[in-house]
Amino acid sequence: MRSWVQRWWDIPLLRRLARHRPLGRTAELGCGAGHALKPLSQLSGITDLGAFEIDAKFLSLAREKSASLQRVTLAQADIRQIPAKDAAFDSIFEFNVLHHVEGWGEAIQEASRILKPGGIFYAQETLKGFIDHPVWSRCMAHPRESRFLKEDFIAVTERAGFRVLGTQSWGNQFLWLAAEKERRASGH
Ligand SMILES: C[S@@+](CC[C@H](N)C(=O)[O-])C[C@H]1O[C@@H](n2cnc3c(N)ncnc32)[C@H](O)[C@@H]1O
Repeated sequence: MRSWVQRWWDIPLLRRLARHRPLGRTAELGCGAGHALKPLSQLSGITDLGAFEIDAKFLSLAREKSASLQRVTLAQADIRQIPAKDAAFDSIFEFNVLHHVEGWGEAIQEASRILKPGGIFYAQETLKGFIDHPVWSRCMAHPRESRFLKEDFIAVTERAGFRVLGTQSWGNQFLWLAAEKERRASGH
């Protein structure tokens, strides 16, 4: 189900927001069990896909899921300190990760550091309105200090040296955003 939503909803929407910029060398931050790896790896224009995940159990599931995929590599890493060189990637995706990360702004700074100038950051996030919802908050655990609204997310993204290309949101619950790293970024 997660993979299906990512393939048919999240990824096409994010790509539209970025006006289908070329993908090139691509990273996924916080890949979890690897649901997005197959749909991402099959996108036209991806030369290779590197995925980073902090949790060893999820990483092992992602490895199983991606075993048959070409040009996909996985690494255990905290996305606030990504083991990659500056300007190593053309595109970065993250699906529903940053609202789990304390100090999520640091992860956006890292995304800016490892993206080439002109590279695109694609984010799909769950917002404060969903996390604080009287019903949903009983069903799902989220760190209490990592909540944000669309405006907070955009402000932190811009401070990290990005220009927002487009957003879509469902009220104050879910956000999709594509942002270009400024060609003369001062974000890190
Ligand atoms: C809600 S899951 C989303 C997983 C995947 N992106 C998806 O959409 O199926 C959040 C993921 O973020 C990972 N995560 C949380 N904090 C992280 C960090 N600091 N560095 C890397 N991954 C992290 C978790 O281990 C988990 O796999």
